[in-house]
Amino acid sequence: MAIDDTGADASEAQESEESAGAAKHTGRRWAFAAVAVLALAAVGWFVVRPAVFPPLEQASGIAPKAPRLNAGTDQRLFRFDPEQSTATYSVKEELAGKKMATAVGSTSAVSGDVVVDDNDASASVLGTVVVDVHQMRSDNALRDARVQMAYLESHDYPLAEFTPDTLDGLPKEAVDDKWYPVTVSGRLKVHGLTEPSTWKGKVRLSGDELQVKIGTTVKMSTYDVGPISLVGMVRTADDVALSLDLVAVDVAVRQPSTVIEVPDPSGPEKVSDVAAPSYAKDVEPILAASCASCHAPDQAGSEALSLATAADARKYAAGIALSTSTRYMPPWLASDKNIPLQHDPRLSTKAITTLQKWADAGAPLDVEETKRIRSSVPAPPAPRRDVVLASSTPYQGDGKVTNDYRCFILDPKFVDPTIVTGYAFEPDRVKNLHHALIYRSGPSSRAEAESKDGADGRPGWTCYGGTGLSADPAVAGITGRSRSREALFAGWAPGQAPRRFGAGTGFKFEPGDFIVIQIHYHFHKGIVTPPDQSKVSLETTAPSPDLREIYVANPIAPVEMPCAPGVTGPLCDRSAARADLQRQYGAAASISDFALKRCQWTLADMPKGPSNTGSTFCDNRLPSGGQIVDVLGHMHELGTTFRMTLNPGRPTEKVLLDIPRWDFSWQLNYQPVEAVNFSPGDVLRIECGWDRSLRSDPDPRYLLFGEGTEDEMCFSTIAVLPAQPGSGNAAVRPAAQGTRRPGG
Ligand code: HEC
Repeated sequence: MAIDDTGADASEAQESEESAGAAKHTGRRWAFAAVAVLALAAVGWFVVRPAVFPPLEQASGIAPKAPRLNAGTDQRLFRFDPEQSTATYSVKEELAGKKMATAVGSTSAVSGDVVVDDNDASASVLGTVVVDVHQMRSDNALRDARVQMAYLESHDYPLAEFTPDTLDGLPKEAVDDKWYPVTVSGRLKVHGLTEPSTWKGKVRLSGDELQVKIGTTVKMSTYDVGPISLVGMVRTADDVALSLDLVAVDVAVRQPSTVIEVPDPSGPEKVSDVAAPSYAKDVEPILAASCASCHAPDQAGSEALSLATAADARKYAAGIALSTSTRYMPPWLASDKNIPLQHDPRLSTKAITTLQKWADAGAPLDVEETKRIRSSVPAPPAPRRDVVLASSTPYQGDGKVTNDYRCFILDPKFVDPTIVTGYAFEPDRVKNLHHALIYRSGPSSRAEAESKDGADGRPGWTCYGGTGLSADPAVAGITGRSRSREALFAGWAPGQAPRRFGAGTGFKFEPGDFIVIQIHYHFHKGIVTPPDQSKVSLETTAPSPDLREIYVANPIAPVEMPCAPGVTGPLCDRSAARADLQRQYGAAASISDFALKRCQWTLADMPKGPSNTGSTFCDNRLPSGGQIVDVLGHMHELGTTFRMTLNPGRPTEKVLLDIPRWDFSWQLNYQPVEAVNFSPGDVLRIECGWDRSLRSDPDPRYLLFGEGTEDEMCFSTIAVLPAQPGSGNAAVRPAAQGTRRPGG
């Protein structure tokens, strides 16, 4: 990631500019930059999605337990027989942006009782039907893993339950072997959420067997389990059809089995007769070079897809082909319009074709199934561990908070000014770690940090959004009072490697400065996991006159998007939406107005009519020269396109970052192969595009630049080296008015 010292710059720039009698708003501009960085931190800076989840396991093969019913006189008790019953979901999905398919998953892990009243069939009672969704399987092992882990979270919520309140349609006197149409109304609980639900279908009694076939359609968003979207690869509809095809047996005659058949996902079927590429010669080298660094066991992507052995490659062959042909994998969003970037991992067309042909041919193996896939890419040289820091007491979650943000003091105890030239976050309980943000804090914050530390009887303190210290630029900065040394300078997310800043560059600590690390732990509900004691190691050096201190600037553009056509709601009014931001984030809400002002737009320039899509841009004039060494674009979930251009429309134009298909889950930092020189007066244009239809909003609002994931941003980061060693920091200033209007 880029290092960031905007917090420190905020105060320094302010001090010097105020003493020089600069206009009052200058301080606010800097303060803004600090706030935005922290806001970004809150929503996740890096690779966001790799939620930490357990791998897809073998289904247990045992039916769940359902509440039992009792039969009265003249009544008979029936119990569903898992061997003859299935619960099924089916949902339309779009693959690779064009092919429509229907994804179907089912399980026999179903239980429930029915009381049949022989004198009055209409008085029969259908008890709670329980389905173990953790055992749902489709024709695609990858889909099952994804759905269960990231959406249904079936480790935490294995059971879906339908509890009928009314059963209508049965006559008083029912005839054997005849289907009766029925309507069942009740409450459906999925993913821990319960909503009213009505099912329709038919029922038939044949002696000591009862058949129930009912179905309904629900919205995945209602239960917070979708719609599923892996940008460019898979996108599902929100509507999912559920059906229960059940057979119950009279328990007086026979007790149904509780054991179910477990499907064996052994591998793909052959779909083409084209000769298969060799696994050993053609396929494995691609996986070893381009995938194993992340998908080998314990690496960032192994939770979603573990590619440990040849058997894994075979089992997931279809997913490997789909993810690579859509260029969803390896993760890389920048396009060919970009200047050349370091570490471009994109596969050649030939490699993509090889993987596809192999999958189509049934993914045959010419090696042992157990042959391991080992990364053929050497790991980059690690930074030295000159200083190794860990919190004194390990931290353990209490099993109550799922997303636990905890801050700890790490004190390097530098006695002389020290330059950090590289760092590593050394994760301990990697399965519970979501991200870490590493801040420098100054002596004036020390007493406050120490008083918070351990105040609730556990190490550290709770800190959503930043460090939670009053010197946090997010709190103090916006009012222009920040004099803090607090600055975000390093971070980690699963998969992020130790980082060395460029030769002759670094980040400065003064004696008395210390580190506050914010760790986002993700715990599974109710499960107390072993304590974590992750470490931070620093590579350090003494300051030298030719050291170039990296600094970070954050060019932005405003976000002003009316509600979509036909969508109404109280927050579709801009001033109401603006007031709502104020209510949630206080002073930080003025970012939205500030973004307009900074880019010298007014509301009159902004699209007014309702629209699903929108775009914005801002030209930032660069006041001094320097070299850009690292770029990052940032939007939220509705983003579609991002571009950063140096000197647009001039002969010196350079596209520093072009992301034609934005993905919130993959917010990578990109480093130009050659640092980009810029001169005073150069212009840096930031452009963003959005599409509201990417998310169904229960609470539609006029979109503004704001901190919540449901708000939007058009934000960027550039890490810059000053033109001359020791020439100090420069600012990215507001631009002259743009020449075209943001579009609707
Ligand atoms: C930089 C690390 C990285 C590299 C390199 C990488 N992946 Fe991934 N991959 C991930 C992560 C993290 C995820 C889970 C998050 C996601 O799906 O966005 C993932 C997800 C996937 C998925 C989707 C799994 C699902 O749940 O649907 C497939 C398939 C996949 N990777 C295949 C590959 C293949 C094939 C390669 C090599 C050509 C590759 N990946 C290279 C990190 C990586």
